[in-house]
Amino acid sequence: MSDQTNDERLLNQLNRALGLEMRAEVMYAHYAAYVRGIHRLHLKPYFETEASESFVHANTVRNAINQLGGQAVTIRDAAPIRHTTDYKDMLEESLATEQLAAETYREILESVTANDELYDEIEQIYFAELRSVEELTQLMSA
Ligand SMILES: [Fe+2]
Repeated sequence: MSDQTNDERLLNQLNRALGLEMRAEVMYAHYAAYVRGIHRLHLKPYFETEASESFVHANTVRNAINQLGGQAVTIRDAAPIRHTTDYKDMLEESLATEQLAAETYREILESVTANDELYDEIEQIYFAELRSVEELTQLMSA
């Protein structure tokens, strides 16, 4: 009984992470398209790399949901994606996105108790989100 409750909680958390990854993928692809000015030179490839990373993370989470017997969401998280052409606003939105992702994966790790393989997979993603937070913090502190 309590096991099932834990499984359901884990699946809900994984689906929340999946929705956030799908949102992040669209956000980064959007910003790669719209970033203006001299910073486009390096931020366009940066955003494109982050979009690809979100796609890979989403795949990992989706496969985990499937393996656990759950049904993965197909709609991205409902939080609006702010349109802008200003790279500083884009970096702000990116940092908030990565911080929320890191927090979400940290919570998932607390729910993964008896599944070493899943724990390792989620931990790798969690570390990647922490690296993104650190990178964006440095980018914005110039
Ligand atoms: Fe991610």
